[in-house]
Amino acid sequence: QELQLNLEQIEKGGYDHFMMKEIYEQPSVIKDTYRGRLLANKGIIQMSGVEDNIEKFLNAKRILIVACGTSWHAGLVAEYIIEEFSRIPVEVEYASEFRYRNPIINKDDVVIAISQSGETADTLAAIKLAKENGAFVFGVCNVVGSSISRETHAGAYTHAGPEIGVASTKAFTTQITILTLLALRLAKAKGTMNNSDYQRYLLELELIPEKVQEALLTNDVAKQIAEIYKDATNCLYLGRGYNFPVALEGALKLKEISYIHAEGYPAAEMKHGPIALIDESMPVIVIAPNKGHYDKVVSNIQEIKSRSGKIIAVVTKGDTQVKALADHVIEIPETNEPFTPLLTTIPLQLLSYHIAVLRGCNVDQPRNLAKSVTVE
Ligand code: AGP
Repeated sequence: QELQLNLEQIEKGGYDHFMMKEIYEQPSVIKDTYRGRLLANKGIIQMSGVEDNIEKFLNAKRILIVACGTSWHAGLVAEYIIEEFSRIPVEVEYASEFRYRNPIINKDDVVIAISQSGETADTLAAIKLAKENGAFVFGVCNVVGSSISRETHAGAYTHAGPEIGVASTKAFTTQITILTLLALRLAKAKGTMNNSDYQRYLLELELIPEKVQEALLTNDVAKQIAEIYKDATNCLYLGRGYNFPVALEGALKLKEISYIHAEGYPAAEMKHGPIALIDESMPVIVIAPNKGHYDKVVSNIQEIKSRSGKIIAVVTKGDTQVKALADHVIEIPETNEPFTPLLTTIPLQLLSYHIAVLRGCNVDQPRNLAKSVTVE
């Protein structure tokens, strides 16, 4: 028993929980994900699973992404990035819906299946359906040799290393990394991005691990904020554009490990319903980097403030406008808009973690949840 405990301590690498270890591993695993694939100075992105099938991607009339949970959220981020960079229409579906709704699948569709474990039953069934209908299926998996990695025609591993905590963290950011590389590779091949933007993105992507490292410095602030809101019964997460999926992911992380009811919404949808929930006891986490729809998010924040909601904002370092309105701000480094999810997600992971620990929850093995969902 004692030996077992010691072994577990060693595996946790000095952290109290696997989840925290995995959050902190993100700078290095993102690097592992693009190692040998991103040669920024040479302007090259190479992934064998993509190169060997480049024609399939280039001829695709659309890309369908199927996944569940956090992997589905990574798919939503990818939708924004792939459409923006490579102008290929993308649809993202819950694998569990896709498999049962008689979807239209064409031979010239590319289906991307995203799964950390590579064993999720619904995603596996969606892949089989896509294959039966003649689509080319590309997997983005973490677990090497997993069922999904074997069932797909080709793929790219995320190389995040074992993810033990039930709450997915490093799998999410490495999935986004792979899908960003794919989007840039396709943009280059299709000529949908000019060379200077392409080169600029490659160089910026190479800096992301350092910036994630910097984003991890928000841990203390996240802990302080967690102390204040640990007894909340509801939480709202808002984001727009690339950060709308991050709002969904932030809410999922909080729900699954702290058992606080949380909802993620596109910020502009607030006025179509959720605004009715806002009062002085509602913490609202707003993802508000200084890019894209910043001004619109600022006005969303004003709407929350005028209804006495408590505002916790994730902002770009040096922000002043949101700072003047929010109750708390968490600062992340500056980056290009499409890459902001890789940074904004970090403080949200930390916030959920600390809230769950303060509530005495079993962070690594939350109730009712399994690491891989191999049943329907
Ligand atoms: C995430 O924190 C969850 N535990 C869960 O939503 C997970 O992402 C989902 O079950 C999909 O798993 P997969 O990536 O292994 O397919």
